Amino acid sequence: MLLSRRLCLLLVALVWAMPVAAKAARGAAQAGIATAHPLATRAGEEILAAGGNAFDAAVAISAALAVVEPTASGLGGGAFWLLHEAKSGRQILVDAREVAPGAASHDMYLDAQGQPRAGVTLNGPLAAGIPGAPAGLVHLARRYGRLPLAKTLAPAIRYAEEGVEVTRAMELGLRFRAADARGSPAFAALYLPGGKPVVAGDVLRFPDLARTLRRLAGAGRAGFYEGPVAQQLVDGVRAAGGIWTLDDLARYAVIERQPLRTGYRGMTIVSAPPPSSGGVAFANVFNILGGYDLAGLATVDQKHLTIEAMRRAYRDRAIYLGDPAFVTMPLDRLLSPFYAAGQRTSILLDRATPSIQLSGLLAEAGEGTNTTHFSVLDPRGNRVAGTMSINTWFGSAFIAPGTGVILNNEMDDFSIKTGVANGFNLIGAEANSIAPGKRMLSSMSPTFLESGRGVAILGTPGGSRIISMVLIAAQAWADGADARQMVALKRYHHQYFPDAVVYEDGAFTPEEQAGLEAKGHELELSSRSYGNMQVVTWDRATGRVEAASDPRGAGDVTVY
Ligand code: DON
Repeated sequence: MLLSRRLCLLLVALVWAMPVAAKAARGAAQAGIATAHPLATRAGEEILAAGGNAFDAAVAISAALAVVEPTASGLGGGAFWLLHEAKSGRQILVDAREVAPGAASHDMYLDAQGQPRAGVTLNGPLAAGIPGAPAGLVHLARRYGRLPLAKTLAPAIRYAEEGVEVTRAMELGLRFRAADARGSPAFAALYLPGGKPVVAGDVLRFPDLARTLRRLAGAGRAGFYEGPVAQQLVDGVRAAGGIWTLDDLARYAVIERQPLRTGYRGMTIVSAPPPSSGGVAFANVFNILGGYDLAGLATVDQKHLTIEAMRRAYRDRAIYLGDPAFVTMPLDRLLSPFYAAGQRTSILLDRATPSIQLSGLLAEAGEGTNTTHFSVLDPRGNRVAGTMSINTWFGSAFIAPGTGVILNNEMDDFSIKTGVANGFNLIGAEANSIAPGKRMLSSMSPTFLESGRGVAILGTPGGSRIISMVLIAAQAWADGADARQMVALKRYHHQYFPDAVVYEDGAFTPEEQAGLEAKGHELELSSRSYGNMQVVTWDRATGRVEAASDPRGAGDVTVY
């Protein structure tokens, strides 16, 4: 009798402990959020507390960022959300990238002489692709979330109606864009009231955007891609020289893709496939680096080899990558370890390879910034790495009257002419040329790192530099860095062309700098720090969750 009571107690204890053990094995018991704005982090917290999962939180965070960080992302833009579903172990890349309008054409940004027309890929509605973010939010919520959109969009609607403080980043962005913004009365009315740009500390309310968000909450994708909002978007765009049609909006489709996986030093890098260039570039770089005993080399040689691998990965990006629905990419070759072995034969340990000596494309150009990333992990182990963009500061600086929606200038991510550089100095070729309905190649790389140590969820804005930032952070994680160290790392970058290593002050020791120069690298100190990385990590042994927001930005984290 006594024995059976004990047995009973043991059984009860086992049954009680089982889900806990299963939970610990499956994922986190804590939640972690890192975003580029405190109010977006609060929105994520609010939704997790209301019983939502990481996917609901992702919807709330993305929508909140559209309101509180309008320089960077929004309903007028696109997104890639990398998901990990704990219960099935499934990983999915939700591709809500913008597409070229149906009336777009191969040479639409060239003049009669075939030369690029200045500014047209960046300013005004002709620069805007058909937005994917609203359809993506609906897709995320309906397919993966537990809560209705009315709940997950509520924080964003509240922020838009009650008003948010203008940040330093917004003030700075307006300094860059004020002149272009004057071409959009609806944009100017909001951000340049009385002709004067708003400044940090001012409070802005967004009643039109709140109404558009409410329509999305109420009617799902039809609330944006059909009906009055669609009509306002098309009317506003066309009145200002754009080419959108109602049909373009009605046809927009979110695509679910298989993420790309690369193994390196005991970890798996899970990231975005084309039309992002991130996953392919990571495979290229890490397959190349995997053939060296990096730990046995001096740090200057480690950095030299990383730069040489970046050079080759960005060269391949420029030549081969584009929207998989439109181009056949030699992915089997690019992702193969044999290809990487071939690449290694062209790398010298003591000398930089001038980019011009690699077969490929050449050019030069200016600079641009903005986009946003967040990372979220819920207590069940669901994860989202989301990178969203309207491309450069305030996108095309154009609002279609009545919508409150800032349109992207993502058409600049196409290669408007082979070898002509875009706003991020990236060159491209036919694979990334313009065609109706085509997705423009992206560098946005929401990423998971997975190993015996645990998981890291990461990503950053930064245009072409996104890829090098994430890969340096991944290397650091393989070396044992924690979330805080990953976001604080000093960065360096090479993108094939221009043939120079851009670096943040402190990325190289004086000896490394001298060593790299002696090998023939041209080093260019970045005039400012760059990136705004958000990282959440989970430690498999302890179950501990950490979250860190880039010290270069004004983001915020939570762990509980
Ligand atoms: O998709 C891309 O690669 C770019 N539109 C991202 C732009 C970006 O990250 C700007 N950030 N600073």
